[in-house]
Amino acid sequence: MPIVTPLDRGTILTWLREKDPSRLQSLWQAADETRRSHVGDEVHLRGLVEISNYCRRQCAYCGIRAGNRGVVRYRMTQREIVDCARHAKSLGFGTVVLQAGEDMGLTGAWVSELLRAIKSETALAITLSLGERTSEELAAWKQAGADRYLLRFETSDPELFRKIHPSLSSTAVSDRMAQLRVLRTLGYEVGSGVMVGIPGQTWDSLAQDILTFQSLDLDMIGVGPYIPHPDTPLGVSSEDAGQEQVPSSEQVVYRVLALTRLMCPEANIPSTTALAAVNKKQGRQLGLMRGANVIMPNLTPDAYRISYAIYPDKACLNETMQVGPSAILQQLASWGRKVGQGHGGRRRKAQGVRE
Ligand code: 5AD
Repeated sequence: MPIVTPLDRGTILTWLREKDPSRLQSLWQAADETRRSHVGDEVHLRGLVEISNYCRRQCAYCGIRAGNRGVVRYRMTQREIVDCARHAKSLGFGTVVLQAGEDMGLTGAWVSELLRAIKSETALAITLSLGERTSEELAAWKQAGADRYLLRFETSDPELFRKIHPSLSSTAVSDRMAQLRVLRTLGYEVGSGVMVGIPGQTWDSLAQDILTFQSLDLDMIGVGPYIPHPDTPLGVSSEDAGQEQVPSSEQVVYRVLALTRLMCPEANIPSTTALAAVNKKQGRQLGLMRGANVIMPNLTPDAYRISYAIYPDKACLNETMQVGPSAILQQLASWGRKVGQGHGGRRRKAQGVRE
């Protein structure tokens, strides 16, 4: 049976719950063909630098939430971060991704200065992933050289969002959607995404997440399995959505990845670190074979990496990918893929459609 896109909600739901290996084979194939015809065989490499693990939020799932007293907090210096950017450049990567907890110690001015320093030394594209920030800060950072911004909405279900984001003041999924629109207006390439298998997440809401990716016309979409962290409220809770609960399994993540590729054919979609964490041997590769076209090798210095444990086993997950340029090249070639050149920004088939 041919797969006709765009898929409607009912079809997405059916595919999400599909378990038959031969039918799934046709889903993988359709996603892989769509990936090839829209974004090609190039795999873009983004060097991930986790610049601070301070966080003011209390996200119920996240190991670096403010309430976790067991975390040794760090904030990298500008010099250390610029060194990591140089490392990304020396490896031939086109992008550096600066990620942190929601750290107010990373002031607007400080981040602007950092962006200028990186841009003066490298021609890398810069992606920021610093949480919810003011429109003024986002505008200043764009001016200072930021190209892209990642802010996952985590789930499109407003109830579930509220439950897992006990907030400082008020946080709602609509605030995240509003920031994504601001980012777009400011000229950023905009990325978002969700976790798969959050306790309380239903199949129906997961289908809605995929429809939301499409309606937001996202440039980048990150999807990974929810991995329980024992030092978090959600990690030790036994509540879930019963019969309708989405399992936090690797298999469901592949289905979400493939459906996301079919619905958002031009998007840059990473084969995420969380996927590699649940299947160290093959997670990255299978992600790339089922819709993904981006890898984000971790370039955070070891001394800090260990403290950026948003989920267990992340810190010690030493790249299953060897990070040396020739090793990556070889690995990708063995999968029939090649290293992306240049910034690897979103390519649009129809020019001039960006509002
Ligand atoms: N399991 C899986 N992913 C997680 N993230 C945070 N905590 C976890 C967890 N326990 C993801 C969130 C966040 C991204 C940086 O990491 O989706 O947006």
